[in-house]
Amino acid sequence: MLGMKGVKIVEVGLRDGLQNETTNLSVEQRYDLFERLSDAGIKNIEIGAFVSPKWVPQMAVSSELASMIVPDLKKSKSKVNVSTLVPNLEGMLQALEADIPEIAIFAACSESFSKKNINCTIDESFKRFEPVMKLAKEHKVRVRGYLSTCFGCPFEGKVSEAKVVAIAKRMYKMGVYEISIGDTIGVATPGQVESLFKKLKKALPVAKLAGHFHDTRGTALANILAAYNVGVRTFDSSIGGLGGCPYAPGAAGNVATEDVVYLFDGMKVKTGVDLNKLLATNAWLQPQMDHALPSKVGRVGKAKPIGKV
Ligand code: HMG
Ligand code: MG
Repeated sequence: MLGMKGVKIVEVGLRDGLQNETTNLSVEQRYDLFERLSDAGIKNIEIGAFVSPKWVPQMAVSSELASMIVPDLKKSKSKVNVSTLVPNLEGMLQALEADIPEIAIFAACSESFSKKNINCTIDESFKRFEPVMKLAKEHKVRVRGYLSTCFGCPFEGKVSEAKVVAIAKRMYKMGVYEISIGDTIGVATPGQVESLFKKLKKALPVAKLAGHFHDTRGTALANILAAYNVGVRTFDSSIGGLGGCPYAPGAAGNVATEDVVYLFDGMKVKTGVDLNKLLATNAWLQPQMDHALPSKVGRVGKAKPIGKV
C-alpha cells in the first residue's frame, strides 16, 4: 500500500499513447511493453480500447492483446490491474469476451467534442453507458470513468466548471469507482486546475478523482502538482509521453510517466514505480516508434547527485 502520501499512477501509453501514433506496434511489441511496464512496478495499466477499428485502427488488436495478458494475470493472481476503454454495448460485449476485470467509459464536457469523438451528444453517450453499467455490475467488472475537455475544447474553447462538475456527478452516480478529469488538448494552467478540482471536491470524494493531463503546452507537470496540492492522488501518464487523441486536433501525448515519477521521487512521494526500469523501457521503445519520445527525463536520464563532484 502506498500510504497517505503515495500516489497511484495509471499507465495509459498502450491505449492513449498508441491510439494516436502512426507507427502501429504489433501485438507482440505491445505485450513486451506491457511486461516491461508491469515489471517497473506499475499496478494499473490500460491496455487498449474496444472502439470501432474504423475510427481508431491502432486499437484493433486490443482483443488479441487482452487474450495474451488477462489469463496469465488471473492464473498468477497478479496485483496488476488491466483495463480497456468501452464506448457502448458492442465494446462491452468484447470486454466480457476478453474477461477484462476493468473497463473505462468516457464522455465529453463539450458537445462538439462528443460528436467528433464518439458521434453522439453527451446525453446520448450516457444512454449508451446504461447497458454497459448493467452488464458490468452483473459480471463484477470494475468501471472507471473519463471526462474529456474539462479545461477547454478544441472546437468550442472555454468549458464551464459548473458543466464539468455536473457531468462528473452524473457519471459518478452511474457507479464508476473513479473519475479521471481530462485536459484532452493540454490547455490547462495550474490556477485553473486548482479551481476546478476544489469545486469537484465539494461534489465528490477527492479520493475518487484522478488527473489526466496532456502535455501539449508544457504545463502538465505543473498541473499535476496543483492537483496534488488540492488532494488528488491518482494520475494518468504514458510511457515516453506517447500519444494524443485522434479526434482532438493538435493535442500532444499524455504527460510522460518517467517525468511524473521523477517529480514525485524528488518530493519523496511514493509511486511504487522504479524510474530506472522506466528509463530502460523508454530506451527500448524509442527505436520501435521511429521518432524521439517527448519525455524530458527519458531524454537526459536522472541527474547526478548534487554536491558530489
Ligand atoms: P458510429 O459509427 O456512430 O457507431 O461510431 P455505430 O453504432 O453506427 O456503428 C458503426 C460501425 O462501428 C458498425 O460496424 C459497428 O458494428 C461498429 P459496420 O456495420 O459499419 O461494419 N462498432 C464497433 N466496432 C467495434 N467496437 C465497438 C463498436 N461500436 C460500433 N465498440 C463509436 C460510434 C463510439 C463506435 C465510434 O465513434 C468510436 O469508436 N469512437 C471511438 C473514438 C476513440 O476511441 N477516441 C479516443 C479515445 S477517447 C480519448 O482519447 C480521451 C481520453 O484519453 C481522455 C482525455 O484525454 O480527455 C479518454
Ligand atoms: Mg487522453
